[in-house]
Amino acid sequence: MSATDPGKHPLSQPSETTSLVMGRPSGEHLTFQLMMAVGTAVIGSLQFGYNTGVINAPQKIIEGFYNKTWYDRYNESISATSLTTLWSSSVAIFSVGGIFGSFSVGVFANRLGRRNSMLVANVLAFVAAAFMGFSKMAASWEMLIIGRFIVGLYSGLSTGFVPMYVGEISPTGLRGALGTLHQLGIVVGILIAQVFGIESILGNSELWPFLLSFTFIPAVLQCVLLPLCPESPRYLLINQNEEGKAQDVLKKLRGLDDVSSDMKDMKEESRQMMREKKVTIMELFKSPAYRQPIFIAIMLQLSQQLSGINAVFYYSTSIFEKAGVSQPVYATIGAGVVNTAFTVVSLFVVERAGRRSLHLTGLMGMAVSAVLMTISMKLIDQLKWMSYVCIASIFSFVAFFEIGPGPIPWFIVAELFSQGPRPSAIAVAGFSNWFSNFLVGMCFQYVEQLCGPYVFIIFTVMLVGFFIFTYFKVPETKGRTFDEIAASFRQTTASEKYAPEEFSSLGVDSQF
Ligand SMILES: *[C@@H]1O[C@H](CO)[C@@H](O)[C@H](O)[C@H]1NC(C)=O
Repeated sequence: MSATDPGKHPLSQPSETTSLVMGRPSGEHLTFQLMMAVGTAVIGSLQFGYNTGVINAPQKIIEGFYNKTWYDRYNESISATSLTTLWSSSVAIFSVGGIFGSFSVGVFANRLGRRNSMLVANVLAFVAAAFMGFSKMAASWEMLIIGRFIVGLYSGLSTGFVPMYVGEISPTGLRGALGTLHQLGIVVGILIAQVFGIESILGNSELWPFLLSFTFIPAVLQCVLLPLCPESPRYLLINQNEEGKAQDVLKKLRGLDDVSSDMKDMKEESRQMMREKKVTIMELFKSPAYRQPIFIAIMLQLSQQLSGINAVFYYSTSIFEKAGVSQPVYATIGAGVVNTAFTVVSLFVVERAGRRSLHLTGLMGMAVSAVLMTISMKLIDQLKWMSYVCIASIFSFVAFFEIGPGPIPWFIVAELFSQGPRPSAIAVAGFSNWFSNFLVGMCFQYVEQLCGPYVFIIFTVMLVGFFIFTYFKVPETKGRTFDEIAASFRQTTASEKYAPEEFSSLGVDSQF
């Protein structure tokens, strides 16, 4: 092991490690084992991003395939409405898979363990790749749609497994930083998909089946690497009661012989979990103590998806084309680059600034960008240079998304709920997120046909609505305990009763 470890704390020198037993400064460094485990897990995030971005650039080409297949079957060209329906379904069914996937996370993660769940989920990626990759050969859009559904299932599972696994293997001091790699993996995945979607690479009528089925490559990589990664020590200790195994894993991950403080933290957390009763989803809506926080959690998720961000990630190439941009695919790639850059920016900002103000800034910035976008699309026929305004406003739309509505809703959900209600709250939030993602993917093209260049005005109205909601209803959560947050709800709803012990503990993973 120590030969491959970057080498600050070689296990082969126990004398050095034992001299570091006091305190815990040395448990907070990146070992090779930890980097590899996190890197392998994050392949799952990359997959989610890839499949979000992949259907954007080749839309016209795959629509051509649908048209031709329709003609061969029915001897007439496809009507514009049928084509919109088929394409919107191909885009949006991904989110239906996501809903089912995200609801199954707990079942798999607690039965099979975190690592094995990630390993098994890859079966879905292979099956989906096969369905999508062979759809052209089989002249079947049904296969493509089924493939999108299955890869959506995989993505719903991944977006649950990856943050869980990464959070559980990382030392406390690095948990925030490593947790953000999930988000980075997603945006890099989108970017890779956009680049591969260039016509001269894979986005053409010959090669698009490869573009869609390339999702099997990261799956192979993950299947090779995951068996070399450890199971989550928290799962081993808390779910399996395997103290010895948990200890062994921690020693490897931390590069230390003495992991007693980590073990103590996990046992303490486990005790807290026992003390705090698990709250079901029904109770979450019935109990007055949770009703307002869960309403806020749902609204924040809606504000992320109904902001229109996925209208951009699913349809930007077609938006740019209508705005008269001469190379729409490159503008789409530009949006991916801006997205990645601002995700990195937000990694630094989010830990320091208040959640509420970041979310407000992001929503307002997106609303202004959407107005600019609308004006530019309206004036494009009179003023040629308006296509640049359109590009710039979509870039700033994406940038503001990554400052606020992108990262903040998940932060706040984790911070609004203590350990007892948190799993149920996250399940409800995940459902709201995927469901609104589905609505945007499914309806955008119809609404666009109805409203023309004014389609983003709808998102503007919603963004302003969510701004007002956030301003009046969402409390600042950064650096506050559940007690304090609960107290702020009590002030606004003085008549409602609440039980103080329900908000008593600041959970370990509320730090990110
Ligand atoms: C389908 O293809 C035909 C023949 O190439 C074309 O004339 C027609 O406009 C296409 N239909 C749609 C809805 O794109």
